[in-house]
Amino acid sequence: MTSATTAPLRIGVAGLGNVGSATVRLLQDNAAVLADRAGRPLLVTAVSARDEKRPRDFDRAGITWHQDAVALAQDPNVDVVVELIGGAEGKAWDVITAALKLNKPVVSANKAMLALRGGDVLAALDSSQAALLFEAAVAGGIPVIKTLREGLAANHINAVYGILNGTCNFILSTMTATGRAFDDVLTEAKVLGYAEADPTFDIDGHDAAHKLALLSALAFGGMPAVDAIKISGIRAVSSLDIAFARELGYRIRLLGIARRRADGAIEQSVEACLVPQTSPLATVEGPLNAVYLSGDYVGKVLLTGAGAGGKPTASAVVADIVDIARGQHLPLLGQFSAPTKIKMAAIGERVGRYFLRLQVIDQPGVIADVSAILRDCKVSLETVLQRGRDPGQEVSVILTTHDTPQAQMDAAAAAIAKLSSVREAPHVMRIEDLS
Ligand SMILES: NC(=O)c1ccc[n+]([C@@H]2O[C@H](COP(=O)([O-])OP(=O)(O)OC[C@H]3O[C@@H](n4cnc5c(N)ncnc54)[C@H](OP(=O)(O)O)[C@@H]3O)[C@@H](O)[C@H]2O)c1
Repeated sequence: MTSATTAPLRIGVAGLGNVGSATVRLLQDNAAVLADRAGRPLLVTAVSARDEKRPRDFDRAGITWHQDAVALAQDPNVDVVVELIGGAEGKAWDVITAALKLNKPVVSANKAMLALRGGDVLAALDSSQAALLFEAAVAGGIPVIKTLREGLAANHINAVYGILNGTCNFILSTMTATGRAFDDVLTEAKVLGYAEADPTFDIDGHDAAHKLALLSALAFGGMPAVDAIKISGIRAVSSLDIAFARELGYRIRLLGIARRRADGAIEQSVEACLVPQTSPLATVEGPLNAVYLSGDYVGKVLLTGAGAGGKPTASAVVADIVDIARGQHLPLLGQFSAPTKIKMAAIGERVGRYFLRLQVIDQPGVIADVSAILRDCKVSLETVLQRGRDPGQEVSVILTTHDTPQAQMDAAAAAIAKLSSVREAPHVMRIEDLS
């Protein structure tokens, strides 16, 4: 079959920002090779955005402009609708449902909608004969959804660990390389375009949580459950934490973790963790993303690459369009045809090792008081580190623990915070001994 003799797949792109414009550009730049791989030409016939006058980085000749993106979805010259507007509500939702009602396949990068309204999306798909593909919604250009749904379809997945937010990884790895403070590096990230003017959604862990919810649903078969994720970001990570972690042989990374416990319950969290400096995740630097998957037959698989940006994300969007052109349709949840009921673990039951940084007044008896609390809370210490000696002044004390249930660690940290010689609440981070 050659592309010259086959009708083109007609594509409508709603949303022409970073990802939408790069998607149209990619479809135009690589048209010949894509036609070959897809078995038919992939032709953009319609586009939509808010402002028709805004210059766009692609050739608009022969492409219909729709001021209303829903009209684009309903255009009879559009076979596949690509939704790149974003947001869980509003126009993006209207576009997707209009397309599915007409049994037109949809490609979307909309992690917020899929993570927060997975049930609504499944219901819309149930009453449609069309598919919705969303490779670009998690980790931008990294083909992690395909890896989970197709490449690892033979496995029980035991765990997913991800560096899922490039802004946070840029900040943490730059703090590590330079010793600079969080606020200073955040300012640089904004200048370089790695952080939004309002970076809250990224640095407080919510963006990573949306992506983790999708990965967890694909890996374990439940519905995306953002509410079941313990979320904390990287604001509290100081250059002291980074320096002490380094001294102990670790790097700090914001990790999204979804893990199956022995009893089948799933633990989910997004938080700053210590990983050994020899772990592949410790070597993921700058704005890159990485996903580390563990399956019962395959063992460990690590994927890394650009997790955001117009061109890498467009690469993932167009891969989905190629699948549609080839007639490959998978159920929304990959190897699971319908969501199963999965038990979420209470995070307090999570057993693992911890790093604590205490700011204490250097005076006799402080360590004994702290040790007594840890003993009472049944937290067993592995390392105690104090740098410097400055009687009567504030110094840092670093502790690492053996395996401890999180609830016991939290109780100990709360009691330590009340000691008069302790100047601020202990900073507690998980140690993830990933090799
Ligand atoms: N940026 C990334 O690196 C990245 C990575 C992975 C996934 N994603 C996802 O990809 C999607 C798009 O992200 P983006 O960064 O490309 O966003 P963006 O740059 O803000 O672009 C949004 C586009 O949607 C258009 N738009 C907004 N409201 C509209 C409406 N009511 N009707 C029609 N068009 C409307 C805007 O029009 P105007 O241009 O006229 O304002 C703009 O072209 C989001 O779901 C995002 O989460 C992005």
